[in-house]
Amino acid sequence: MVCKQAFPATCNPRGRAFFLLLLQYCSAVLTLVSAQEPSARWPTLSGKPPLVIARGGFSGLFPDSSSIAYDLARAISLPNVHLWCDVQLTKDGAGICAPSVKLENATDIATIYKNGSRVYQVNKVPTRGWFSLDFTYKELANIVSLNQGVYSRTNRFDSHGYAIITVDHLAKTIKPPGLWLNIQYDEFFTQHNLSMTRFVLSVSRRVKVDYISSPEVAFLTRIASGFQPTTTKLVFRFLGRDEIEPSTSQTYGSLLKNLTFVKTFASGILVPKDYIWPVDATLYLQPHTSVVVDAHKAGLEVFASDFVNDVPLSYNYSHDPISEYLSFVNNADFSVDGVLSDFPITPSEAIACFAHLGRKASSQAKPLIISKYGASGDYPGCTDLAYEKAIADGAEVIDCPVQLAKDGTPFCLSSENLTESAVVDPKPVDGVFSFNLAWNQIQTLIPAIANPSAKYKMFRNPKSQNAGKFVTLSDFLALSKNAKSLTGVLINIENTQGVSVADAVNEALIKAGFDKQASLKVMIQSSNSSVLMKFKGKSNKYELVYKADGNIVDGPNADSTIKNIKTFADSVVVSKDFIFPELQAFITNITDIVPKLQAEKLPVYVETFSNEFVTQSWDFLSDATVEINAFVQVANVDGIITDFPNTAARYKRNRCLGVGKKSPPYMEPVKPGSLYEFSGHP
Ligand SMILES: *[C@@H]1O[C@H](CO)[C@@H](O)[C@H](O)[C@H]1NC(C)=O
Ligand SMILES: *[C@@H]1O[C@H](CO)[C@@H](O)[C@H](O)[C@H]1NC(C)=O
Ligand SMILES: *[C@@H]1O[C@H](CO)[C@@H](O)[C@H](O)[C@H]1NC(C)=O
Ligand SMILES: *[C@@H]1O[C@H](CO)[C@@H](O)[C@H](O)[C@H]1NC(C)=O
Ligand SMILES: *[C@@H]1O[C@H](CO)[C@@H](O)[C@H](O)[C@H]1NC(C)=O
Ligand SMILES: *[C@@H]1O[C@H](CO)[C@@H](O)[C@H](O)[C@H]1NC(C)=O
Ligand SMILES: *[C@@H]1O[C@H](CO)[C@@H](O)[C@H](O)[C@H]1NC(C)=O
Ligand SMILES: *[C@@H]1O[C@H](CO)[C@@H](O)[C@H](O)[C@H]1NC(C)=O
Repeated sequence: MVCKQAFPATCNPRGRAFFLLLLQYCSAVLTLVSAQEPSARWPTLSGKPPLVIARGGFSGLFPDSSSIAYDLARAISLPNVHLWCDVQLTKDGAGICAPSVKLENATDIATIYKNGSRVYQVNKVPTRGWFSLDFTYKELANIVSLNQGVYSRTNRFDSHGYAIITVDHLAKTIKPPGLWLNIQYDEFFTQHNLSMTRFVLSVSRRVKVDYISSPEVAFLTRIASGFQPTTTKLVFRFLGRDEIEPSTSQTYGSLLKNLTFVKTFASGILVPKDYIWPVDATLYLQPHTSVVVDAHKAGLEVFASDFVNDVPLSYNYSHDPISEYLSFVNNADFSVDGVLSDFPITPSEAIACFAHLGRKASSQAKPLIISKYGASGDYPGCTDLAYEKAIADGAEVIDCPVQLAKDGTPFCLSSENLTESAVVDPKPVDGVFSFNLAWNQIQTLIPAIANPSAKYKMFRNPKSQNAGKFVTLSDFLALSKNAKSLTGVLINIENTQGVSVADAVNEALIKAGFDKQASLKVMIQSSNSSVLMKFKGKSNKYELVYKADGNIVDGPNADSTIKNIKTFADSVVVSKDFIFPELQAFITNITDIVPKLQAEKLPVYVETFSNEFVTQSWDFLSDATVEINAFVQVANVDGIITDFPNTAARYKRNRCLGVGKKSPPYMEPVKPGSLYEFSGHP
């Protein structure tokens, strides 16, 4: 393992060795600037790129506010990442970082001090919980451990005993490039004779505090005179529009209309992201508000909160968190000045690698982007709309799984079992088969969008749920021929009538001139070697693609199997877990299947890449781009088969690739298996 010298803080101290595992290399901070865009392009208040603020560190993976979460955020985010600490005060006045005033939310305190809960008025609401003000720092430090407060995230690290840390420890030991303290409750602590004011003034004499935010006007007004805006900026945090700000008794919604007032005690505002891009009840995005432009006019910076990769995003983003960040930092009208995120790698990529990326930005040659049933993440698979979207999104190859109608017409559909291939009507008990229906009947069927992650309550673009029309193979070929950006088509033959389908495909290809067509490559895919043999020698335009099963990974004769594949195929499709096997969603290892196939000059295409975070291992940090990057840079795959071609095609154009040793940490591939090692083996 190589560790470049320029990253000493995360490379050297014992206990941080984990980063040597998680990142293949530690990257040089100093070189990162070159990967960023010139600042002139940013319509932020300062003209500088937006800030990434890591809420509780990388709290999307590790326990919020733990040193490991802060370390990871520091190691894989933009070089000026700001680490956010939610400050709570102990009985003896120590400032600790914990995400909630109720410590039991993200620690094991309830099991340690079984009788320690109390009921207090928190902003006039009686609240039961374990409150920091009932414990001295000594009673918490190294006795209570932090754990994952969000149930949908892995609790694998709860047993690691991460201690509650103080603000001073965060500042002095982790040495964040920027420190952001959030004071969610001042009035509450004041009622208990503990002074946040005294704490923030004294801590800022010991360490540099870059930002202090609070949702309480009185607190910010009180401390304003104690801080130089050039050193420490004060930020007013807006809560829900209908919630009451405790010191003015006005709602946050009405305070939003009074930004000149806010400007008297703060230099910026922090708003929930839907203040800027509202989302309607059906999870579609509405036009953006004027909040950012208005606040900039009032001379206020604008920070947006609540960014997480692991809840369903608005459908407009196609489950792709980078698209969401881009809408806040890279739209026609404004850029926010910073984003508060539980997954700081993703805004780092968005800002440094993807913002202001033209459609014509130069693209890496590899991997080849192959659609799965067209852009089936956005439209019903194998419909005209899915294919048109795949082409517009930058797929280089679009795919047609061929089925035969009763009258012999070859057409595109994911399965010959119509119930399986997402057709609304008919819906009989054990499936209606496409070969029982003539093409003119199939044409009238209503397509349905596939929802492979429905059991996690994650759905695809409901507005286009039944949109589009099915197409014949010859329609598909005609459509492909007209699309100048395509380099090929993939014809997939997995049909029980294999041989007759092969004949029909052959005929359609010849009729459309694809056997001789110069510009488009024809890939014929099957898991049945006899089907592929039907095409062998038919045209030098055909690439025969074998869909391999698990035997080529670890069957007794894996090596001879691979040699044999070479006799009937030119390339191979494998599934993701043949390359990175996983256990309980942690990747355990990397197999040698890709180098073995490539040694036989067989390119390797991998399926299926989807944006929904539930389809990805923990290693990939709920970010589809991180997943693609590992398959490309670590496994060196030749092609990606995806439901969401936009994400894969955009990955290839990002400006942080191909910069060799200057590769920034957020575009370094995570080393699959390291998290499994670190977790102590699930
Ligand atoms: C802890 O707080 C977070 C954020 O407010 C919330 O999503 C989560 O459900 C809470 N967990 C528990 C155990 O109350
Ligand atoms: C908690 O309170 C109960 C009842 O008041 C008492 O019996 C028990 O010993 C207490 N436990 C601790 C750990 O203080
Ligand atoms: C706070 O201090 C005041 C004055 O010393 C005292 O009357 C009050 O009881 C204290 N409150 C708490 C919650 O300790
Ligand atoms: C803005 O808020 C201040 C303080 O609450 C108040 O005095 C002032 O009237 C408000 N201005 C407007 C236009 O609401
Ligand atoms: C979000 O998607 C819906 C449905 O396609 C569309 O009507 C709406 O205009 C989109 N919102 C934005 C802000 O683009
Ligand atoms: C067709 O697909 C449906 C839905 O997956 C399944 O329930 C049914 O068993 C299938 N029919 C046959 C004959 O395989
Ligand atoms: C492969 O295709 C041939 C020709 O269509 C067929 O006879 C054979 O049963 C198929 N093999 C499998 C495993 O499906
Ligand atoms: C990982 O794979 C390599 C080679 O395939 C093997 O030697 C090693 O034992 C595997 N490690 C684990 C932890 O499974």
